[in-house]
Amino acid sequence: MSDGLSWYIAIVTTINILAMVWLIWWSAKGTYEQSGDDTGHVWDEDLKENNNPLPRWWLWLFYGTIIFAFIYFALYGGLGKIQGALGWSQEKQWEEEVAEAKEKYGPIFAHYASMDLEALAQDPGGREIGQRLYLNNCAVCHGSDARGARGFPNLADDAWLYGSEPQNVKTSILNGRQGMMPAGLVTGEGVDQVVAYVLSLSGRDSGASEKELARGKAKYAACAGCHGAEGKGNTALGAPDLTDGVWLYGGSPGAIRKSIVEGRNGVMPAFQDTLGEDKVHVVTGYILGLSRK
Ligand code: HEC
Ligand code: HEC
Repeated sequence: MSDGLSWYIAIVTTINILAMVWLIWWSAKGTYEQSGDDTGHVWDEDLKENNNPLPRWWLWLFYGTIIFAFIYFALYGGLGKIQGALGWSQEKQWEEEVAEAKEKYGPIFAHYASMDLEALAQDPGGREIGQRLYLNNCAVCHGSDARGARGFPNLADDAWLYGSEPQNVKTSILNGRQGMMPAGLVTGEGVDQVVAYVLSLSGRDSGASEKELARGKAKYAACAGCHGAEGKGNTALGAPDLTDGVWLYGGSPGAIRKSIVEGRNGVMPAFQDTLGEDKVHVVTGYILGLSRK
């Protein structure tokens, strides 16, 4: 919080409370002499409005809440950056709660963190905790069943962009990943030819002539560096296998064309700092358990 904002909050809050004191003093003032005054307002024949003073207990309660406000500020702070006598702050309370949770749950995670990932993938207790971590941190992108969506890989199948080894999967989660499919490698009629060739890689017929396909295959040379000469992909780069019929961005001719013309840049965030190594280990076990039946 900046100094300016801090002063602004402190001054506005104080003025508000003082205005409240004034308001209550002003509206209570003098009413005792007029006690019982008839205002002359009458409804429903005999329902009269009198001008009675505010009940004393209510007034004192009101003044009490104002005094409470100042005591509260003195103890806990709240007027901008001014600290209370108890030194309480939201951040401190949060940090204390996190430390407490770490002390309580740390040993549980440490236990699972020391397990081999393939064994953890079959451990019911570990998978239950992993699932909870998964639902809280990953389901927004990969779906609550981990089956993914367009641009977000399915984590429950056997196709892995970055490799199926437990360590590959864990590294994806710890450090994050960035897919880099460059745009505009082929242009003009070359695009249709390459789309036709890519379709043929997974055994589909695009209706293109042999000649067009051959041209597409020649132009595919620009892609082979990443997707491999046979289109089997490259897990070191996260370049998808184009032959397996599993598509990250969709396998229709239109979607493939879009991948080629506009490029693709999927980003998987890193969880090392937010979850820490132990929890990443446990959630990795859960993910692996989904595809290792
Ligand atoms: C903001 C969205 C987002 C969140 C949140 C997210 N991911 Fe991802 N994840 C992605 C994207 C996008 C990719 C694909 C990256 C690419 O295209 O190269 C990915 C890739 C992965 C991969 C690599 C898959 C493969 O085929 O090799 C794994 C494993 C993974 N995520 C697991 C997780 C786990 C576990 C969590 C929760 C701790 C998580 N992700 C949270 C978006 C997300
Ligand atoms: C520099 C490496 C690189 C080159 C060169 C490259 N790609 Fe890619 N390609 C990738 C990566 C990485 C991805 C995954 C992008 C992501 O994860 O967001 C990808 C994704 C794709 C996809 C989407 C696949 C899916 O599952 O939805 C298609 C289709 C594709 N590339 C075709 C091509 C074609 C055709 C060429 C040549 C014209 C080519 N790529 C050249 C790295 C490359």
